[in-house]
Amino acid sequence: MKNDWSPTSWQTKPLAQRVDYPDAETLRATLAELAELPPLVTSWEVDALKSQLAEAQQGKRFLLQGGDCCERFDDCRPDPIAGKLKILLKMSLILIFSRHQRVIRVGRFAGQYAKPRSTDTETRNGIALPSYRGDLINRSAFSPDDRTPNPRLLLRGYERAALTLNYIRGLMEGGFADLHHPELWDLDFVQHSAKSGDYLAIVEAVGSAIRFMETIAGTSLGDLNRVEFFTSHEGLDLDFEQAQTRQAPGRPVWHNLGTHFPWIGDRTRSIDGAHMEYFRGIANPIGLKVGSTISPEELCDLIDVLNPEDEPGRLTLIHRFGVRQIEQRLPPLIEAVQQRRRTVLWCCDPMHGNTMVTQHGIKTRRFDDILGELGQAFKIHSQMGSILGGVHFELTGENVTECLGGARGLSESDLGKAYHSDVDPRLNYEQALEMALLIAKRMG
Ligand code: PEP
Ligand code: CO
Repeated sequence: MKNDWSPTSWQTKPLAQRVDYPDAETLRATLAELAELPPLVTSWEVDALKSQLAEAQQGKRFLLQGGDCCERFDDCRPDPIAGKLKILLKMSLILIFSRHQRVIRVGRFAGQYAKPRSTDTETRNGIALPSYRGDLINRSAFSPDDRTPNPRLLLRGYERAALTLNYIRGLMEGGFADLHHPELWDLDFVQHSAKSGDYLAIVEAVGSAIRFMETIAGTSLGDLNRVEFFTSHEGLDLDFEQAQTRQAPGRPVWHNLGTHFPWIGDRTRSIDGAHMEYFRGIANPIGLKVGSTISPEELCDLIDVLNPEDEPGRLTLIHRFGVRQIEQRLPPLIEAVQQRRRTVLWCCDPMHGNTMVTQHGIKTRRFDDILGELGQAFKIHSQMGSILGGVHFELTGENVTECLGGARGLSESDLGKAYHSDVDPRLNYEQALEMALLIAKRMG
């Protein structure tokens, strides 16, 4: 146990992305209430994930992490939740088939409700209001009432996370048997791609591998193995995270039991800051977003703080440089980690370095940039004798039009048709599936 750490020790450090609650008394009472409620996940699940991530570090498993940029409370409905699970499960089957590796499925869900913002206020028609920071903090509508941080939303967020997780756990117990049969997947988009022959060959091969397994086992795969999903979110609001931080009876360690796999965002990873202080003390496996502004020395210092004992499975570095920067930025970091013989899991987030704004002011990302960064990431790691052990996507199981390109060739004029994200643009169902097929094709 780290003597100088406690779940509250972050409060003495500079806090980035601070939320100013006008109603301090309600905040205090709400956090006290939250701290008494049951945990959302268990420490043994969290520890199991850590062991699996340790195997991914050795190239024995592969991490697939994905979900919304920001979950909204309104998305806590059966269809969006099941849709996200289904697309992640389909992608994972394709990855299992092409890589011959077990896949660790981690959703950006059941708690991904808070967002870092680049400015504290947003101005429209001369009126400045607090920026929208996610449903955990305030609401997106542009009125003083909606934008004022409301402590009771923390409780609503905990409840929504619990409801989401409850449904996910139910579905995992066997509601997904049909997904093991790719002939039932919605694959109409494939015909719009020049690569349709390749795609269909992969899907057919996944299907026949599953049928072969089922024949041998004499039962359907859906009955055979319980599908496993883990949860993750950016650990941004430290008041909220602290309230979910629990000590296992009779053990000196503290876990964040609000999620299995919290991560530190690219904007809150300052070495002397409150987020680093909080994260260094929890026993969960944790992620660290690594963007273009980090130097090799800074990265090594962060690793020393977050994983001083070099514990396997503890630290995942989620790099997100953008297709135009990865070639320059990634190699020095890999080299520094190799030189110091540190154990990390490398994971590529090809979304956050590739965000752009159209002429009409719409935030989007190009399918080809996302794929391009991923391709480079695989190549660079393999050339340097390192392992790219995971991928991190912003995606949804729904038919949104937020990212450009893909088999249907979504163009800027399509973006208005079904753009639902309040924050970053997500791959839709077809784009996400195609992304998995393309990764499979390259590696298969
Ligand atoms: C995110 O994952 O939504 C995010 C804000 O990423 P980053 O911290 O890498 O910018
Ligand atoms: Co995002």
